[in-house]
Amino acid sequence: MDYAVEIDDLAFRYKDGTVALKNITINIKKGSKTAILGHNGAGKSTLLLHLNGIYLPQRGSVKVLGVEANKENEKFLRKMVGLVFQDPDDQVFSPTVWDDVAFGPANLGLAKEEIELRVEEALKAVEIEEYADKMPFHLSYGQRKRVAIAGVLAMKPEILVLDEPHAFLDPKSKENLYNILEKENKEGKTVIVATHDVDFAHEWADEIIVMREGEVLSQGGTEVLCREEIIKEAGLEFPKVVRLIRKIRGLKVEKIPKTIEEAGELFNSLINNGCHRD
Ligand SMILES: Nc1ncnc2c1ncn2[C@@H]1O[C@H](COP(=O)(O)OP(=O)(O)O)[C@@H](O)[C@H]1O
Ligand SMILES: [Mg+2]
Repeated sequence: MDYAVEIDDLAFRYKDGTVALKNITINIKKGSKTAILGHNGAGKSTLLLHLNGIYLPQRGSVKVLGVEANKENEKFLRKMVGLVFQDPDDQVFSPTVWDDVAFGPANLGLAKEEIELRVEEALKAVEIEEYADKMPFHLSYGQRKRVAIAGVLAMKPEILVLDEPHAFLDPKSKENLYNILEKENKEGKTVIVATHDVDFAHEWADEIIVMREGEVLSQGGTEVLCREEIIKEAGLEFPKVVRLIRKIRGLKVEKIPKTIEEAGELFNSLINNGCHRD
């Protein structure tokens, strides 16, 4: 199996003594769509900051595309892993949106034409072309979040990591983000998203990692989000479709539908089967 990320017994403690990660052992498949779920303070952001070398393991190890995360490999990690921070204000700082998105590609040492092409492409992808000349400071939080996403897209990393990208996005921007993540994944990228949004995770991801208090509670397919003990222990909610299916007494389904549309199709087929006897 080809892994994008291999983490073995990772532990991390902040300077003030807070233990943020205890003993994380997970593998993330290359080309997967992985969602990391967990309530506030579970350790999601701390974990993601280990993926591109911002934090280095204090204990255990992190490997990205087979390469050990350490001081010597920092450049490789930054190039391979594009991380969209939880807070855009930690990431977006240039005088204009255009400059901000160009910052990463410029740092990669790309030619001017290539930088321009990438910036235009990325601004278009997140639908903020019209803000290119604006000061990020004058944009809304959700818009700054999209600038941060564009900045990472423009670097064309192998692994795309987004920390709570849905926060403060309106429904249209959420749909746009969904489509971007699908497109990147179809092009072969591994996409990792930390989120509270169980509906998004259930619908979009193929791999689910549930965290709680610096530990991994569970890793598996989306069926993880149908397991009551895990949902309860993690302080999460069932996805809406799962809640709906659970409400229908006596209904046993082999595969829980991922979307409301799929649930609708399932119900239609059950009703039709009931009506038409052969
Ligand atoms: N810079 C920091 N200094 C001290 N403690 C921190 C710092 N950042 C996060 N923490 C703590 O580490 C734990 C994990 O936080 P975090 O990784 O941000 O979780 P999540 O992203 O799941 O909300 C929390 O208890 C949080 O308060
Ligand atoms: Mg976080």
